[in-house]
Amino acid sequence: MDPDLQSLFDAARVARARAYAPYSRFAVGAALRDADGRVHAGCNVENAAYPVGSCAEAGAIAAMVAEGGRAIRTMLVMGPGPGLVTPCGACRQRIREFATPGAVIHVADDDGIRARFTLGSLLPDSFGPENLAHA
Ligand code: THU
Repeated sequence: MDPDLQSLFDAARVARARAYAPYSRFAVGAALRDADGRVHAGCNVENAAYPVGSCAEAGAIAAMVAEGGRAIRTMLVMGPGPGLVTPCGACRQRIREFATPGAVIHVADDDGIRARFTLGSLLPDSFGPENLAHA
């Protein structure tokens, strides 16, 4: 595997192992590389009040912003099961805030990379910060 992708994979795996998912038992890890090449990771954090839980992608984005990052170059999401763990609809929009349509999102499980998407393919014709520049 490409070393840049390997480091995203490793960071997502570590974060996934720390997921707090006592209700769904569905542990997810996410890692992203920002425009400066730094890697930020997150995991899902569930809550007894179910809708309050947050996704792994949201955690990784919050970690990036807290470190001063403002642009997602590449992202990797890792989760279990036979189905591809692609970002949920809300997270596609969260990613959109900090990424261009060409940004690559890798989907993985513990064993390796399973699929590769662009943000534009997951969230076509999206609404983003640029729209608000023309209020
Ligand atoms: N989840 C994520 O963290 N990211 C995804 O891309 C899909 C779903 C979490 C939310 C919830 O804690 C659990 O997985 C089951 O939906």
